[in-house]
Amino acid sequence: MIVAAKKIVVFSGAGISTESGIPDFRSPGGIWSKYDPDEFTIQRFLSSPEARRKQWKMLTEGGLTTEAKPNLAHYAIAELNSLGKLDCVITQNVDNLHQEAGVPGDRVFELHGNMQWAVCLSCHRRFPMKQVLQMIEEGTEIPDCPNCHGILKPDAVFFGETLPQETLMVATSRSRNCDLFIVIGSSLVVYPAAYMPMYAKDAGAKLAIVNLTSTPLDRYAEVLIRRKAGETMSNVVKRVRNKMSISG
Ligand code: APR
Repeated sequence: MIVAAKKIVVFSGAGISTESGIPDFRSPGGIWSKYDPDEFTIQRFLSSPEARRKQWKMLTEGGLTTEAKPNLAHYAIAELNSLGKLDCVITQNVDNLHQEAGVPGDRVFELHGNMQWAVCLSCHRRFPMKQVLQMIEEGTEIPDCPNCHGILKPDAVFFGETLPQETLMVATSRSRNCDLFIVIGSSLVVYPAAYMPMYAKDAGAKLAIVNLTSTPLDRYAEVLIRRKAGETMSNVVKRVRNKMSISG
């Protein structure tokens, strides 16, 4: 299907980054088995310094640390791009690992923002997350804006916040214009992100799902692979490369 496809969209969730050591949300032992998602709405974050302290604590413990490296699945997708087969990656992840694996930034659409920056809600200055982590390491429990002491918020989309509209629009149109849509590592239960695979199906694209557990959209998939993303995508791209080199 990949060799025959002209425009492939890869749609990734937290499951693509678990092999990089970042916990996902809904697997056993995932983030939401340790923290209550209701604590992590934008309303809570703005409501009290205590809520902000808790959220910064969860973010630093929950894999915000910047040591995570791309894994085989991220590199396989970057190779799809170098083989000229990738239209774009639409990701729910905020870990920047697709870009670090070599997918050009203008081909990665981050529906839930990105944790590489923090933004001040008063003066709107943006700061590298590394700088904010440094402040936390030095004992600041609730980092505020180094410029105006306003509330500093990670650039990721919190529950209750609207998604970046431009990104959502582009992701929607790319999903509607691809001929193969590959979901990797997502439970497909959070909207509007989880509309993307259906936009692709409705537009006549084929759907493949690589995910360890079942999803509500499994019945629409032409291909369903319940195996780990790293080994699966690495094997798949190896076969694609061989087929493409044979057919010249
Ligand atoms: N290989 C393949 N699939 C995996 C792997 C792996 N190595 N590890 C985990 N998975 C699967 C899990 O079985 C699970 O179905 O990845 C899926 C991850 O699902 P979630 O944890 O729900 O993550 P995601 O779908 O990205 O969540 C969407 O929810 O909390 C919000 O904003 C957050 O972006 C997130 C959104």
